[in-house]
Parts: sequence; C-alpha cells; structure tokens
Amino acid sequence: MNQRPPVIAVDGPSGVGKGTLCQWLATELGWRLLDSGALYRLTALATQRRNLPLTDESRVATVAAELNVEFTAGTDGGLRIALDGEEVSAAIRSEAAGNAASQVAALPQVRAALLQRQRNFRQFPGLIADGRDMGTVVFPDAELKLFLIADPGERARRRYTQLSEKNLSENKMNVSLAALEREIAERDARDVGRAAAPLTPATDAKILDTTYLSIAQVCEWARQQARPWR
Ligand code: DC
Repeated sequence: MNQRPPVIAVDGPSGVGKGTLCQWLATELGWRLLDSGALYRLTALATQRRNLPLTDESRVATVAAELNVEFTAGTDGGLRIALDGEEVSAAIRSEAAGNAASQVAALPQVRAALLQRQRNFRQFPGLIADGRDMGTVVFPDAELKLFLIADPGERARRRYTQLSEKNLSENKMNVSLAALEREIAERDARDVGRAAAPLTPATDAKILDTTYLSIAQVCEWARQQARPWR
C-alpha cells in the first residue's frame, strides 16, 4: 500500500491559468492547495515591512524561515492569507508585490529556507502544488506533473482584464497593457534565467499550451490527467 499522500504539481509562468486550475482541482478532488508563489510574495512583503533590502540574501532568508503566516479558507472558497496576524490576501496580489517576489525568489538561500515549509503541505488525501519548481525541486516525486504555457501577449491581456475587473470599483486602473507586457517579459527572463531552480518543465511533465483554450477546457484536460484519483 502506498503510504505517501499523492501530489499533483502544476508549474508554469504567470498568466497561464495555473491559479484558477489549481483551485478548481483542489475543490474537485477535495485535496489541499499549496500556493507557493504566495510564500515568495509574503517573504518580500515581510522583508519590506522590516525595512530590509530585498537583495540582502541572508537576512531575507531569515525572514523567510521565520515567516509567521496562516492560510485559511476564505468565505468565497479562495485562500485567506494572514502575515503576523494581519490579512494581506489583497496586498500580496499587486504587480509590485509580484516583482518583489520574483527578486527574492532568485536567491538560493531564500528558496532553501522555504523548501521544508512547502513539503509540509503534503498531507492526505493529497496536494495540488502551484508554482514554478513544484515538479523539479520541491516534489520531484510527484505522482502527476502538469506544466502550462501561453503566449506572452495573451498572458498580459489576461492579467490586464483581471486587474481592470479588480480596479473598476476602486476606479484606479493605472497600468497599461504595454507596461504589463514589459513586466511579464522581465519577470519571465528572471524566473527562467536564474541559477537556482529556474522555471523549466520536469522531463516527465505533461505540457499544455493554454493560449487558445478556455478555463473550462484547461480544467477538462487536467481532469483527464488526474483520472486515477477521481
Ligand atoms: O505565482 P506567483 O505570481 O504568485 O509567483 C510570484 C513570484 O514568485 C514569481 O515571479 C516567481 C516566484 N516563484 C518561484 O520562484 N517559485 C515558485 N514555486 C513560485 C513562485
């Protein structure tokens, strides 16, 4: 009998539909969800709140190791994230927070400090792990590895729509599509080009290009791949 909780690793760059797919899969299978990007975002936020530079590797790694974070299910089914007892679910989703996260994620000591914390999420009945290196570094023995890709222009458009929907009520859409495209290209280059755990599919990952697919089509593809656990 297999005593180890199964893991489905879902990797890929931002804007490919990973977050939506992972939440859907977690609900569909009744498994836990690891949003590993949130840990890098939280590390960057906690570092900035302590007035430390994002480039000070050993101090940022200490911040990562000591992160006081709580993940709970929000009323809307999404994750509610608290840092030092304060709700930061919205604060860590900004473009600035994503860019800061990408900077600290390039530091090997920071990645090492977050490794065991991520592996602790592997519990029964199973785990959906959302990130960049889930299938290559954190869970190289994952039972299933999915890797999503999409055209950068389409990813920028999706992000733009997401941001405009979010900001409509607050009336403060202050980022252009062109600026988003530039930021996505910069972040891709940093995530793919870094020496520590660069963004790359595991050799045994199943790759899907989501550029011309709806969310429903992406979920259906993943559901087929996850057949053994349904
Ligand atoms: O998925 P996300 O946008 O929340 O991730 C934020 C940043 O963190 C992203 O630029 C890459 C980094 N990241 C990483 O290096 N490894 C992970 N497993 C998840 C995210």
